[in-house]
Amino acid sequence: MTLKRVLSGIQPTSDSFHLGNYLGAVKQWVELQDGHDAFYCIVDLHALTVETDPKLMRKRTLISAAQLLALGISPEKATLFVQSQVPQHNQLGWIMECLTGFGEASRMTQFKDKSQKSGTDTTRVGLFTYPMLMAADILLYQTHLVPVGEDQRQHIELTRDIAERFNSKYGKTFVVPEGYILKEGAKIYDIAEPTAKMSKSSGTGAGLIEIMDSPETNLKKIKSAVTDAGREVTFDSVNKPGISNLLTIHSALSGRTIKELENEFDGKGYGDFKSAVAEVVVEYLRPIRSKALELLEDEAHLVKILHEGAAKAQAVASKTLEGTYKNLGLVL
Ligand code: AMP
Ligand code: TRP
Repeated sequence: MTLKRVLSGIQPTSDSFHLGNYLGAVKQWVELQDGHDAFYCIVDLHALTVETDPKLMRKRTLISAAQLLALGISPEKATLFVQSQVPQHNQLGWIMECLTGFGEASRMTQFKDKSQKSGTDTTRVGLFTYPMLMAADILLYQTHLVPVGEDQRQHIELTRDIAERFNSKYGKTFVVPEGYILKEGAKIYDIAEPTAKMSKSSGTGAGLIEIMDSPETNLKKIKSAVTDAGREVTFDSVNKPGISNLLTIHSALSGRTIKELENEFDGKGYGDFKSAVAEVVVEYLRPIRSKALELLEDEAHLVKILHEGAAKAQAVASKTLEGTYKNLGLVL
């Protein structure tokens, strides 16, 4: 039996991943590397859609790799690689752009939000075509499942549409992928502003829990998390977005159900609950941060893992690209 293929990507745009990246996506990456043929990609080309600094780019790509390994991605089980080291992504990206309608691309809400914020003069064309590059990332690997957070749902839908369009016009070429998006945890909110999603590019900073931050910083941030009116620790995302978000975080990291947590904190106040959440988060992240820092001390080792991953990725990607060119009638 051949294993189902899984692919996902994450941008190296910060010195640390945050809890939303982990709970919304990377935690599922780790689970899915067992029993699936998994490809995980640090999407540095996607990161170029906004202003970047070459020194930071290199550093953050390596930090991303170190964190993914520390969080549990195993190079023996999964193929971990950097997007720019596999040129087939750009090559298929162009084909994807030629299959996507301008109006269709214009409906991508992430582009609309981001470009509205920065204005048309500073918004890059690459930000507009970004979902087509993402489609190429996915389709190159004949992917069945794409574990991502809720904010990527529309991009996965677009990828499916493009794949179906291509297959029906030019013959079966791509597996039509499905998103793997959890019900709980697919959207983690900023803990200081629990109606906004936790994000490195927006949000308050005070509400962002970062994996590479010191335990002291994270402890302080969680203890000052915004809570809601009332005093009962119960899950109610409409009236109690702050407490509900903290319940989601605790549950995802401790493995206990929301119901169990509600029972445990019945009759206790928000203060006790926040201390418990802080303890769970800090103790969960402590060994991960140490492991990532240790891995970063040996850059050559990290680069070697990524090169080996890129070679494995290329073997699959070049086959799909060849099939695609052939079906399009390009002379090989
Ligand atoms: P990015 O940082 O945009 O490259 O996102 C990497 C992965 O993290 C994607 O699968 C996102 O959907 C996921 N993600 C980002 N922010 C959140 C969040 N606040 N809650 C849940 N998932 C998230
Ligand atoms: N667009 C995704 C994000 O911002 C990152 C990404 C790029 C991705 N290529 C991908 C995710 C392929 C899944 C599959 O989070």
